[in-house]
Amino acid sequence: MHILITGTSSGIGHGLAQEYLARGAKVWGISRRIADDLAGEANFHHLQLDVTNHKAVMEKLPAFLDECKRIDMLILNAGVLGPVKWMSEVNTEAMQKVMDVNVWSNKVLLDLLFSLGKDIRQVVGMSTKASLRSTPGWGPYAVSKAALNMLMNVYAKEHPDTHFIAFAPGLVDSEIQETIWNIKETDKYPAVERLQQARYTEDMPDSRAAAANLIRGMEKAREMESGAFADVREL
Ligand SMILES: NC(=O)c1ccc[n+]([C@@H]2O[C@H](COP(=O)([O-])OP(=O)(O)OC[C@H]3O[C@@H](n4cnc5c(N)ncnc54)[C@H](OP(=O)(O)O)[C@@H]3O)[C@@H](O)[C@H]2O)c1
Repeated sequence: MHILITGTSSGIGHGLAQEYLARGAKVWGISRRIADDLAGEANFHHLQLDVTNHKAVMEKLPAFLDECKRIDMLILNAGVLGPVKWMSEVNTEAMQKVMDVNVWSNKVLLDLLFSLGKDIRQVVGMSTKASLRSTPGWGPYAVSKAALNMLMNVYAKEHPDTHFIAFAPGLVDSEIQETIWNIKETDKYPAVERLQQARYTEDMPDSRAAAANLIRGMEKAREMESGAFADVREL
């Protein structure tokens, strides 16, 4: 199995890389930081890259993936929460930064990989239930992930030989959850309290513990129509 994952330095992407490596897969990981434990793995190849730096992506990715002709699973996981504020308090510049990571970096990556002739079997865009039903404070994140869902849907129509899914991974303890943990304005942002309460319980496993179930869910999602939205909790 050849797996390409964006955002392997922490959280879900890190846990998935660990699990795939434990299963004997070859993993190509992209992130700005490097996870020390993955760096020594013979089957792990890492590219230190900011996915929003399109020039660097175009320059560095072809050589990085030279040996990888077939990609069994491309997991577009790199993402940011962005500002937790009411939409009216977020300027378009801050909004654009969230869109750059959560949406446009994935478009650039997909276009490049297809232009390089890679045989991509499955693409997973790491989405969230908040892309379907947001709550105050989650505006920038929710808008960006709703756009990601549609991006997967559009590419599914234009690339019928590749299976696309927008995938909600459920709650997983990660750096994003750490940010939410530190938010004090729970009255203004009702979802925060629920997420804070879930932390350190079985409702929010750490990324290593969650990985096997996420892989099961991503594989099961292949039975759905390409371009659909899937939630691991319903698979
Ligand atoms: N955790 C949850 O409960 C949850 C729920 C629903 C959806 N998700 C989604 O799951 C994905 C992973 O999030 P997480 O919770 O695991 O958070 P995380 O621990 O913050 O991981 C985010 C990853 O994305 C990478 N990344 C962010 N900006 C990047 C950039 N400009 N260039 C390259 N890599 C970048 C980070 O690497 P560097 O900082 O090293 O670049 C990191 O490896 C996100 O798309 C998130 O929206 C998470």
